[in-house]
Amino acid sequence: MAELKKEWRVVDILKWSKDYLGTKGVESPQVEAEWLIREVLDCSRIDVYMNHARPFSKAEKAQFKKLLLERISGKPLQYVLGYTEFMGLRINLTPDVLIPRPETEIIVEKTIEFIKQRKIENPYIFDACTGSGNIAISLASFLKECSVLAVDISKKALDVALQNSLENSVSEKIKFRESDILNNKFVNEQFDVIISNPPYVAGKWYQNLPKLVKNYEPRIALDPGEDEFIFYKHLAIIGEASLSDYGIICVEIGGTYQEEMIKEIFAKSALSCFYTLKDYSGHSRAIFAHKDL
Ligand SMILES: C[S@@+](CC[C@H](N)C(=O)[O-])C[C@H]1O[C@@H](n2cnc3c(N)ncnc32)[C@H](O)[C@@H]1O
Repeated sequence: MAELKKEWRVVDILKWSKDYLGTKGVESPQVEAEWLIREVLDCSRIDVYMNHARPFSKAEKAQFKKLLLERISGKPLQYVLGYTEFMGLRINLTPDVLIPRPETEIIVEKTIEFIKQRKIENPYIFDACTGSGNIAISLASFLKECSVLAVDISKKALDVALQNSLENSVSEKIKFRESDILNNKFVNEQFDVIISNPPYVAGKWYQNLPKLVKNYEPRIALDPGEDEFIFYKHLAIIGEASLSDYGIICVEIGGTYQEEMIKEIFAKSALSCFYTLKDYSGHSRAIFAHKDL
């Protein structure tokens, strides 16, 4: 790694690190360089460009270099920073939780739209497989009145999620519970909304994931094991047992290739799919269903 010269300003660091990240195969080097600068200077994206002549102090240069080295070692940017943005909210991350994806944001947005459209008041929401808590926390932030039960099998993930709920001032609306959703039907609950982004990247799909994902993101969050559809089968059972008559169940899926099978699984539990959400690339990304009445 070439040494940064003595008197480097924001603009110099931005250009130099963008080029450097680019040569290391980083897909969006400019965006990542901005994020690293923002982290060191604790500033907004606009500030990076408004203060382009500001020199970096020696300490700032040292911190920047440390972050940059971590990033080029192959670690995803979000783990280097220790957080990401989801629905405009800051979500802290550790290696125990999956990095929330932009596709999941559109699922949350659509869920909010359906809750409002169907006039489900003060909904009781079940976030199955909560991870960092991104879904539970954004629903609790954007729905004025609601309560959420957020479940994960990983105690470490739940610790991150709880902290995120505190930092986003929604902890009073969310109960976190350690539980294996494959071994619990939640029969004592009645949910108005069940939402889940479960592990769904099975077999060859898991093997073909980029190293950035496989080496750093927890396997338990991605790989459902031998039965690719095991989580959908159990979510359907939970839906049948614990979804209110007018409620909705929404699951993120791996792509169009899983859609028909999941619809069939849901149909066996008397759940009919009324909407399939496509992602930015046109792949089926989420299925919304309700009870057959
Ligand atoms: C795909 S991640 C989703 C995380 C987060 N909701 C998101 O959208 O980014 C799946 C989560 O399911 C959890 N998980 C895996 N097996 C589980 C099980 N049997 N019961 C409950 N949670 C489980 C993992 O710990 C992980 O946090």
